[in-house]
Amino acid sequence: MANRILKADAALPEVGITRRAAQRIAAGVLWVFSNEVERCDADLPAVHLCRFTHGGRVAASGYFNRHSLIAGRVLARGAEPDLEALILKRLAEAFRRRSSMAPAGAVRLVFSEADLLPGLVVDLYPPHAVVQSNTAGMDLLVPVLLERLPGMIADVFGVRLQGLVLRCDADVRRLEAVELFNRVCRGEPEHLAAAALEEDGVRYAADLIDGQKTGFFLDQRENRRFLASRVAERAGARVLDLCCYSGGWGLRALAAGAGHVTFVDQSRKALDLLQRGLAANRVAPGRAEAVQQDLFDFLAADPATYDVVVADPPAFVKARRNLAPAAKAYQKLNRLAWRRLTPGGVLITCSCSQHLSAADFIALLSAAVAKEQGLAQVIYRGGQAEDHPLLLSMPETGYLKCVGLRRL
Ligand SMILES: C[S@@+](CC[C@H](N)C(=O)[O-])C[C@H]1O[C@@H](n2cnc3c(N)ncnc32)[C@H](O)[C@@H]1O
Repeated sequence: MANRILKADAALPEVGITRRAAQRIAAGVLWVFSNEVERCDADLPAVHLCRFTHGGRVAASGYFNRHSLIAGRVLARGAEPDLEALILKRLAEAFRRRSSMAPAGAVRLVFSEADLLPGLVVDLYPPHAVVQSNTAGMDLLVPVLLERLPGMIADVFGVRLQGLVLRCDADVRRLEAVELFNRVCRGEPEHLAAAALEEDGVRYAADLIDGQKTGFFLDQRENRRFLASRVAERAGARVLDLCCYSGGWGLRALAAGAGHVTFVDQSRKALDLLQRGLAANRVAPGRAEAVQQDLFDFLAADPATYDVVVADPPAFVKARRNLAPAAKAYQKLNRLAWRRLTPGGVLITCSCSQHLSAADFIALLSAAVAKEQGLAQVIYRGGQAEDHPLLLSMPETGYLKCVGLRRL
């Protein structure tokens, strides 16, 4: 057993919460907002494990951060005497749920609230793993997790970890008032920065220490399969991959038989990863072009048309108050992308903005196509891959929308 961070029988300090918060917890919500906290012990550290109580009853056990708007996160409803044992049990359950997913490929083993482990992400890139803690409260539990993880991954997936990276560098941590950092816990940094993964026979380069997300956009896995099916229908298709990062979409299109892919991203590091991916898949130079440019500048200047355009921009809506300007940016992007489609061509367009609903995204696309006086069929509606499930009681756990539009 790992060195314990708290005694199994030690009573957790109490945080008093409103009746409404207790009711929300009973309904499956795992967050307590700061304005729902009625009482906390000012002598305790700002971040600590706790019991959330109301009216003398324990509503939940979890952790508390006095500096965060989401002040409480629930690890278990009701009283849970041993949170360390609980998180290890949760981890084992999350792993077991993914045990049928190919161990040869990269897979998200833990997806935060959806796996009842708020603030924690664990991704497996065989033979390496990345642990991401996005909250100050989860940081308290990370030492236990790091100690037990290699053995558990070996047991469930048969993978002996060569590398293990702790990433505490996501921007959301700023909302928690904690430092941002990375740590290589096992393995050689140069190997982890030059990692590789394979998905459905396509090879990708990933930087597990400093790359975006934990190194790759695993959440688009099933949507990339849709792209492959469309490209396979059109021998030699010309494809535009906007905001390509390491080439998740475009490399997949080339493997499916695309004649040519134009990759666009403003980031030099992204295009370096792409070049490694092109080499790993032995793509002939004449089949791919990489452009380092702002996507709006590119679309304004590029006169070419494409059989398939993929638009996978960063989340334009960072906060609910930015919804209106962000919706305008999505609309502009999709209008410009639409103009680049050949008749019968397919636009695969995404939004990873949690604050933009699927219905609002479709409405926005409808308005964009109408403004272009076009007609489109919706031929695909996708979301997060199976290893990034949504918790039904917390719509906030859903963020990714992917829509396929055929130009009529
Ligand atoms: C959601 S990620 C794309 C993921 C990628 N399509 C994949 O499947 O791996 C967004 C990407 O957009 C790029 N980006 C952000 N703003 C951009 C802009 N204004 N113009 C071009 N690329 C941009 C980022 O560098 C990042 O690689």
